[in-house]
Amino acid sequence: MAMRQLGGFALYLNWSEIQLGRGETIADTAKSLSKYVDGIVARVKIHQTLEELASHSSVPVINGLSDLNHPVQILADLMTILENKRKLKGLKLAYIGDGNNICNSLLIGCSKVGVNLSIACPSDYEPNLEFLKKAKVNASESGSIIQITRTPKLAVSEADIVYTDVFVSMGQETERKKRFRKFMPYYQVNSELLNFAKHKVIFMHPLPCHRGEEVTADVIDGSNSVVWDQAENRLHTSKSLLNTLL
Ligand code: NVA
Repeated sequence: MAMRQLGGFALYLNWSEIQLGRGETIADTAKSLSKYVDGIVARVKIHQTLEELASHSSVPVINGLSDLNHPVQILADLMTILENKRKLKGLKLAYIGDGNNICNSLLIGCSKVGVNLSIACPSDYEPNLEFLKKAKVNASESGSIIQITRTPKLAVSEADIVYTDVFVSMGQETERKKRFRKFMPYYQVNSELLNFAKHKVIFMHPLPCHRGEEVTADVIDGSNSVVWDQAENRLHTSKSLLNTLL
């Protein structure tokens, strides 16, 4: 849709419908595709695939989500925070739940723009250590405070933004039971938890959500929720990114 609004068009290529599905290497696909298109957005299960695609492409490759990170989502998130709070620097964002791709990218995004990030996650579900290190370097320049705790109430305390994501990301479906034992109900964002945040807290989620799992319906459908603005801003930030890169 972003390409259409910019006057171009986008072609959707499913893995199984192109030669990758017949065993063509990622490098060969990257080289052929680069002859046909001006840019590639790739959503991949394993981050390494994206790296390989990018290293053999002569056109820009945009990370449309990988198991490691999801940078384009965070562009929309920061825009949404700015729209709602009129500033970024010095705000406190509490991220509750899985230290996953979203959490890794929040670490980079927040630390670059001076948003304080407090992450509450269970043991063995912390964000990626390399991302944490990079965030700390960014934070030393931007003034962000980065904190990791096991206690959601502590993370949410006085927060301007409360953010969560699914407990089971794409590709992790077989871990569902194990993950639920670890996350439920302690890491669920519900109205009781939200009460520990500032009165005008905004609730964010990259969607799709699972009501009754990582977030309750009254929170995601409630007056503090900005998830639909957040969804809309995926479109606007995608246009901006495409305009910059292409
Ligand atoms: N962590 C989620 C993000 C979805 C936007 C996933 O990878 O499925």
